[in-house]
Parts: sequence; C-alpha cells; structure tokens
Amino acid sequence: MALFKVLSGIVVIAFTGTLASVSESQLPSQAIFVDPRSFAVMGPNADFRNDSFNMLFNPTSTTPPFFQIFDERFLTILGGSPSFREIASDPTFAFAHEAPVYNEPTDEVFFSSNDGGPLGMSDLNHNNVISKISMKEVEAALSANATGPVNVPITQLNLSDSIQMTNGGTGPYNSSILLVTSGRGSSPPSIVLVNPLPPYNATVLLDNYFGRQFVSLNDIKVHPTNGKIFFTDVDYGFLNLFRPAPLMPFQVYRFDPDTSAVRVVADGFNKPNGIAFTPDGNTAYVSDTGASGGFLGNNLTLPASIYAFDVDPVTHVFKNRRVLAYADAGVPDGIQLDSDGNIYSGCADGTQVWAPDGTLLGKFFLGMSTAEMIFAGDGRLVILAETKMFLAKIAAKSIPLGGPSRN
Ligand SMILES: *[C@@H]1O[C@H](CO)[C@@H](O)[C@H](O)[C@H]1NC(C)=O
Ligand SMILES: *[C@@H]1O[C@H](CO)[C@@H](O)[C@H](O)[C@H]1NC(C)=O
Ligand SMILES: *[C@@H]1O[C@H](CO)[C@@H](O)[C@H](O)[C@H]1NC(C)=O
Ligand SMILES: *[C@@H]1O[C@H](CO)[C@@H](O)[C@H](O)[C@H]1NC(C)=O
Ligand SMILES: *[C@@H]1O[C@H](CO)[C@@H](O)[C@H](O)[C@H]1NC(C)=O
Ligand SMILES: *[C@@H]1O[C@H](CO)[C@@H](O)[C@H](O)[C@H]1NC(C)=O
Repeated sequence: MALFKVLSGIVVIAFTGTLASVSESQLPSQAIFVDPRSFAVMGPNADFRNDSFNMLFNPTSTTPPFFQIFDERFLTILGGSPSFREIASDPTFAFAHEAPVYNEPTDEVFFSSNDGGPLGMSDLNHNNVISKISMKEVEAALSANATGPVNVPITQLNLSDSIQMTNGGTGPYNSSILLVTSGRGSSPPSIVLVNPLPPYNATVLLDNYFGRQFVSLNDIKVHPTNGKIFFTDVDYGFLNLFRPAPLMPFQVYRFDPDTSAVRVVADGFNKPNGIAFTPDGNTAYVSDTGASGGFLGNNLTLPASIYAFDVDPVTHVFKNRRVLAYADAGVPDGIQLDSDGNIYSGCADGTQVWAPDGTLLGKFFLGMSTAEMIFAGDGRLVILAETKMFLAKIAAKSIPLGGPSRN
C-alpha cells in the first residue's frame, strides 16, 4: 500500500455536491459523489499535489475500495446495487499485473505477474508467470462472506519456454488466449497463442520484424471487424533491466494472421502502451505512459494520456490523432471498453473511466496502482492491482475481444 496517501490537507473541500437527477440518499453503497464544483477553487493555502504517482486525489478521505463519482453518467455504469470486493491477495508477490483474458467456457480469468517491476520476482534471469483464477470459486467465496475481502486460490501455469515476460493479452482468439511478450535478454518479444486448457500448449505467431527483434512488446488487441491483430512496442523491458537497449522506435503495429504480414500503423509516441478499439472498430485508443520511466524515474511533464485515432477502413493505419484524456494519477496503462464505448484504464489510484467525449466519469478507487482490468462477462469487472485482485459487480456490459466470428 506504499502508493496510497490520503490528501488530508484537502478535506477542507467538503463533500457538498448533489447530482442533478439523483439524490445523495439514492447513491449506491460504496459510492461517493465528488462534485467538480466542490474543488474547482481550492484557495492559495490548500495542499496542492505535486506528485501524481504517490499523492492521490481522494478529497473525501474515503477508505478504498470505493466508487468515486465525478459525473452522473457513472451511475449508469454502476447500476443500482454495485459491489466492489477484494478477491485475492499476496502482499509478497505482484502476481496480478497485466494480460487479463476471460475464458468464458471455463469461467476463468488468466493474467500475468509483473515483468521486471516491483515485487514481480522476475528479471533478466527469471521469467514472469501466467496464472488463472476461477470465477466460480470467486462467486462461491463472495457469497460465503458478506462483506470482507476473500482470498481465492490462484493457479500458476507451466508454459512453454518460448513465452518470456508476458505483458499483454486478449481474446480468446480462435478459442486460444492471445499473448504478447516482452522477451527476456536475447529471447525475442513475440505474439503467442496459448491453449486455455491443459496442457496449455503454445504456438508462436510472430517474433520479429523482417529479422529484427522488437523492443519489448507491451499490449495487444484484435480488431473487432477486420480481425487483424494490433500491438504496441516500447522500451519497458529495457527500463526494467531485462531487455537490451532499444534498436527501433516505439510504435504500433498491425499483424495479419492470414498472411503473417506485419507493418506499422502509428508512431510519434513517447511510450505507446495500452490499446483498444470501439465496438464498431472505427476508433482506436492508445495510451502513452511517457511519464513513467522505469530506472529513469517518473517525469511528470511527459504524457500520461490516452489518444484516439480513426482506423482507416482500407489501410488500417491510425489517423486523425487527438487526445482523449490526461490521467490525474500516474499513467493510464491497459485500456478496456464497455459496450457503450466508455473507456476504462488502469492508473496509480485504481481504474479510471472516461466517456467517449473525454469526461472523467468516475473511478474504481483503490488507492493503489492498477495496470489492467477485464470484463469477466457482462457486469463483472476484474481489476489487477499487482499484489491484489478486485471484482466490481456493476451494470456495464462487456464487448467481444476475439475479432469477427473467432471467439
Ligand atoms: C511538494 O509539496 C510539498 C508541500 O507543499 C513540499 O513540502 C515539497 O517540498 C514539494 N516537493 C517538491 C518536490 O516540490
Ligand atoms: C470474511 O471476511 C472477514 C473480514 O476480512 C474475515 O475476517 C473472515 O475470515 C472471512 N470469512 C471467510 C469465511 O472467509
Ligand atoms: C506446474 O508444475 C508444477 C510442478 O511440476 C505442478 O505441481 C503444477 O500442478 C503444475 N501446474 C499446472 C497448472 O499444471
Ligand atoms: C494445442 O494442441 C492441440 C492438439 O495438438 C492443437 O489442436 C491446438 O491447436 C494447440 N493450440 C495451440 C494454441 O498451440
Ligand atoms: C484461426 O482459425 C481459423 C479457422 O480454424 C484458421 O483458418 C486460422 O488459421 C486460425 N488462425 C490462427 C492465427 O491460428
Ligand atoms: C522530463 O522530460 C522533459 C521533456 O522531455 C525533459 O525536458 C526533462 O529534462 C525531463 N526531466 C527529467 C528530470 O528528466
């Protein structure tokens, strides 16, 4: 919990907000409304934040986990009776970092441990691990315990040695989990399919760009209508000391699974990271986590932003780049969308949610960093918070992630 600090100096800006159409008594449990009008002016003697990674915005000093609401549209996402519970914990190991994939046939969520970062237990000489959690066991544990945290067992998988430092995942794609790896030492970054059933066998789809290794691949999505595979490449493997210095720019690629052709669709980022598409496939979102610099430290003047692009219907290049959002806490990492096109991203204080117009609607506030999250079917948002996992039961619905007719 080292990242959690309550801004005690800001409690002077009391909770005075009222929603336009919902009274405070109608707010669901675990929900706090923070009216933007209540903190627009803090006064010259207020404690302003001068660090977005370690000082978080919690003006009501509410104890996490809770729903922090800035816009009434967040109530539609939450529904009438949401809940927000801790479902797994290991304070010694960042077992739940990225690459979350929900496999509906087995009702399990797969995910990777932190690759190279704090408590990841992985480095130049040690691979990270993929684990899974059973949502049936989560549901059983939650119903057996009405309020407190539960700690459902995590199962570690033994995967092929071709899978080194997994950092992103999506699907299922063709009934398999689609992973992207950062590589380790001289082992190349890659795109890999993994069987979600024993023996968890794997098939590598791509591990180079015309004979050159990628820098350290970071995240991946399948386009919902054209079925091509899009992924980001950035230097976090180098900044976390398990990959050589980069020899290519940090950019976004398109891989055609039918022909194995690979090409660039977007560049000009500081650190391209999370990627997602709107359900209609017309818009792509890419996060830029430039402010987070590994051994170089954080640099608050670099991007902590999500950019939106139009996806060209013919060439699939990303064009008409514009900013969607700038995160107030840390950097926006992995990105997922719900069926209404709202944008969820993992930040230094939990999962933040923006409307397609760029308004910050609210947060799944944890007071700790979350890199990624995934819908485990409609209404179940599983949040990866490094040493913990959380489940928020809400009204928002999931979107298919396997591409057209390949789920
Ligand atoms: C951040 O703000 C606090 C309180 O105003 C101050 O004590 C501290 O020196 C500031 N830190 C930096 C790095 O500016
Ligand atoms: C339920 O949660 C409480 C609070 O964390 C804990 O003390 C108790 O052991 C839990 N009970 C079960 C059956 O898990
Ligand atoms: C992974 O290997 C260990 C050691 O051989 C074994 O105990 C464990 O059951 C395996 N895990 C899975 C999910 O098969
Ligand atoms: C796993 O092995 C089965 C049986 O050989 C094969 O049909 C399947 O395509 C393999 N899956 C992957 C992801 O390699
Ligand atoms: C996906 O499945 C289709 C149909 O079985 C097959 O033609 C295609 O090669 C598969 N693609 C990959 C990348 O495995
Ligand atoms: C932060 O980034 C800016 C913009 O690239 C750069 O000018 C500045 O030197 C960096 N600061 C540190 C402390 O590295």
